[in-house]
Amino acid sequence: MFLSDTFSVNERGHLTVGGCDTIDLAGEFGTPLYVLDENKIRSTCRMYQDSIQQYYHGKGCALYASKTFSCKEICRIVQQEGLGLDVVSGGELYTALEAGFPPERIHFHGSNKTAHEIQFALDAGVGHFVVDNLTELHTLDAMARQMGKTADISLRIKPGIDAHTHEAVMTGQIDSKFGFALETGEALEAVRAAIALQNVCLKGLHNHIGSQIFDVAPFQEAARVMTNFIAQIKKETGTAIEELNLGGGFGIKYTENDQPVPYDAYMREISQTIFQNCEDLGIEIPYIYMEPGRSIVGEAGLTLYQIGSVKHIPNVRTYVSVDGGMTDNPRYALYGSEYTVLAAAQPDAPATQTVTIAGRCCESGDLIQEHIPLPQVQPGDILAVLCTGAYNYSMASNYNRVPRPAVVMVRDGVPRLAIRRESYEDLVRNDV
Ligand code: LLP
Repeated sequence: MFLSDTFSVNERGHLTVGGCDTIDLAGEFGTPLYVLDENKIRSTCRMYQDSIQQYYHGKGCALYASKTFSCKEICRIVQQEGLGLDVVSGGELYTALEAGFPPERIHFHGSNKTAHEIQFALDAGVGHFVVDNLTELHTLDAMARQMGKTADISLRIKPGIDAHTHEAVMTGQIDSKFGFALETGEALEAVRAAIALQNVCLKGLHNHIGSQIFDVAPFQEAARVMTNFIAQIKKETGTAIEELNLGGGFGIKYTENDQPVPYDAYMREISQTIFQNCEDLGIEIPYIYMEPGRSIVGEAGLTLYQIGSVKHIPNVRTYVSVDGGMTDNPRYALYGSEYTVLAAAQPDAPATQTVTIAGRCCESGDLIQEHIPLPQVQPGDILAVLCTGAYNYSMASNYNRVPRPAVVMVRDGVPRLAIRRESYEDLVRNDV
């Protein structure tokens, strides 16, 4: 077993994902290939719903952050599991609606929603808007008024917390482009502005402190800050804030060095902080939303590549070049993110060399990973990069006009196509 119960080794000695032989998957569907284990996604969704049931007595709901991996099949799965959905763009909203996701269970996020996107969401009957700034607040109010509607909203708040994670994915500190700052009084002004408007209904507050976080403490601190603010709003405006969205951010295990807190323990400890603080402040416990993304799909997936060449540079390094790269996984190039890489036909074989896994794009920074221990491998062999379910497909590009890989969903050893591989025709479809 590697990292999570999704990955195992079969009687042929091959790596498996969700009970499917990775060598067979590569043969049947081609490479590069994203593979996701449906049971793993479903069991994590259930864990979130069960924890909310247990710790908030059912007064809450998990929303899947679809930026992590948005496609129709994943929308259908999380919908069946009873979760709501967080979308951040017209494209994610369109995908969800095409999948038949109930619009009233969709929360529309985003730091710079266009008027066109707001209109699209209002027309579709989206249930909730997370408002990032005053321009958006007034645009939404005006558009809702024109339609004779009232839009339920929450305000995105920067609680002023440093979440101890990569600075590119830290979002709760004052120097952040997201939301209203508490320290400056901007957040309270936004609350007053929202209360004064006729066609928005201020239901809640939202915060998201960052992603791939391994400590409980910053989440507890954020929960305290946010409940304190709810009490302050009550005192200064008389308005009761009924909902609190705590965002996403729980870390996952990309390598054996990562030690995430079990999600259920995160949930328990954060709920205790909220209950205690609300009691101390004499306010009602708000309805709680969580917005997990990475923790739902990250460990459920892997990417399969075929090795094209192996280049030994004496006294320098060995490059193992694969048929994908930063086009299907830009995370090493962007953040230096670590992954576990295995030879899919012999995942248990002892390592005999340390290599760099290089992508096929025309730039030196196109690396999937460095310092990777591997057994001897050769052109034609299949490599597996584990835990690529989150922010890989969703951040993929067509750089160098490389078509995006296919996505296969597996369940109890049975694979099925979830997203077709892009073709060359797809690449020129919009060219005029
Ligand atoms: N809610 C909001 C408002 C968010 O901005 C995010 C992630 C989430 C929820 C979900 O967070 P999660 O549970 O996945 O940590 N591309 C980066 C990650 C960017 C995270 C963006 N926001 C990466 O590849 O690591």
